[in-house]
Amino acid sequence: MKDILSELEDRRDNARLGGGQKRIDAQHSRGKLTARERVELLLDEGSFEEFDMFVSHRCTDFGMEKQRPAGDGVVTGWGTINGRMVYVFSQDFTVFGGSLSETHAQKICKIMDMAVQNGAPVIGINDSGGARIQEGVASLAGYAEVFQRNIMASGVVPQISVIMGPCAGGAVYSPAMTDFIFMVKDTSYMFVTGPDVVKTVTNEVVTAEELGGASTHTKKSSVADGAFENDVEALAEVRRLVDFLPLNNREKPPVRPFFDEPDRLESSLDTLIPDNPNTPYDMKELITKVADEGDFYEIQEDFAKNIITGFIRLEGQTVGVVANQPMILAGCLDIDSSRKAARFVRFCDCFEIPILTVVDVPGFLPGTSQEYGGVIKHGAKLLFAYGEATVPKVTVITRKAYGGAYDVMASKHLRGDFNYAWPTAEIAVMGAKGATEIIHRADLGDAEKIVQHTQDYEDRFANPFVAAERGFIDEVIMPQSTRRRVSRAFASLRNKQLTNPWKKHDNIPL
Ligand code: HXC
Repeated sequence: MKDILSELEDRRDNARLGGGQKRIDAQHSRGKLTARERVELLLDEGSFEEFDMFVSHRCTDFGMEKQRPAGDGVVTGWGTINGRMVYVFSQDFTVFGGSLSETHAQKICKIMDMAVQNGAPVIGINDSGGARIQEGVASLAGYAEVFQRNIMASGVVPQISVIMGPCAGGAVYSPAMTDFIFMVKDTSYMFVTGPDVVKTVTNEVVTAEELGGASTHTKKSSVADGAFENDVEALAEVRRLVDFLPLNNREKPPVRPFFDEPDRLESSLDTLIPDNPNTPYDMKELITKVADEGDFYEIQEDFAKNIITGFIRLEGQTVGVVANQPMILAGCLDIDSSRKAARFVRFCDCFEIPILTVVDVPGFLPGTSQEYGGVIKHGAKLLFAYGEATVPKVTVITRKAYGGAYDVMASKHLRGDFNYAWPTAEIAVMGAKGATEIIHRADLGDAEKIVQHTQDYEDRFANPFVAAERGFIDEVIMPQSTRRRVSRAFASLRNKQLTNPWKKHDNIPL
């Protein structure tokens, strides 16, 4: 009996060594942690329960039958993050470069199936040379099995991908279909075809980092949602993110104890809006002053900075925030900001996270590059996302809400539940100068008259009261009371019930 017990321990020790000490050292020397070290850091101490530690591949080509390491290059199982259950897979680069074989894929699929069945998020740590070359189509089939599960799990349980090494070829499409992608600076990259193929096909000379590093994907392509300095920081941020999310689409977001008065007044907000309507101010100041304990978890911080997306808590409950940022491009909507915000709104809606929208938007960005790039279709994504969302929606207009962008940004007409405006709000078809130049074109030669017309237009529309008279704005509120107003609004909406008409699925303008 004792021998049998010690054999188990020996087998476990052997499996834990993955591809051996030499390859573990090589992993460390690149500033990367091993698959198991990452799981340990991600999960609560001692909470990890492993599956399939002894699974090995079945390939007999290219001498593979002589190398059958236990675990087959991926560590899978479940554990907890601050006591809440998650499933996890972590690819082990020390075993055949973390490449995905038929059995490696089966291990991932097993935990994904359990996650959907048992209602807990899936966190995938990617560090892989892609399809296991020795297995050919069996490994491609394995990828497709994972893809199909990503699709089925979408909107059912949150899926988070952490890229901590290579992720290339078709392999990138599994993370691409998850809700959030985090990357580690300098040690991770994602691309459909690597630098060598790029050179052959397009003659472009580019490094792996330039082509698909963390900076590229968080600043240029928006494929990734966050870039972090090292493995430890990235995993700590995943833990922070999970704390905001519900475990599945059948439950409400978590409510945490909070240590901040819901009716806290912020008198500094009364002077946030500058006297000159064209002077920018930092919308993040408002967000952090409204949030419980000033805690704001930003998503896609480095992309389309003219719109801000992320999570806060109000009275301990998660709220998704979408806010125009007047500091960048005057806070206008354009292709990138519409796409970014639309995806965020849809994430919130599928996981029952209420949405706070803060509006200071001069309109859509004009120009050929926007029109040729399809701003009509991309802008429509945000409009569609807000209009179909059934979660509680509270909107605060701080300053400009012009034109179509007024409609888009969670207006009353798109089923906004509470639509507030500060006294500084200006709700109109366009700014006074532009409006005057169109409706008083005949007077354009007379500077005095134009000044008067502009003033008249401002007096009539540069305020929230015309909209309030119609009930499009429920209440004009003091800026200092924003946290109290918004918290009470969301509290009153906790039992909101709204369903859209039955359909197979909608046809959002992709
Ligand atoms: C089998 C692989 C492998 C793979 C790496 N290894 N990739 N084994 N299948 N795909 C093995 C190596 O043989 C090596 O084994 C060990 O992993 C570490 O690899 P190195 O090359 O020494 O490491 P490094 O220099 O860091 O380079 C890492 C790498 C490179 C950039 C990932 O290995 C590489 O280019 N691999 C091939 C990538 C690739 O073309 N994959 C297929 C993509 S197509 P030893 O024993 O020496 O330690 C694809 C399609 C998916 O994935 C389709 C889905 C629909």
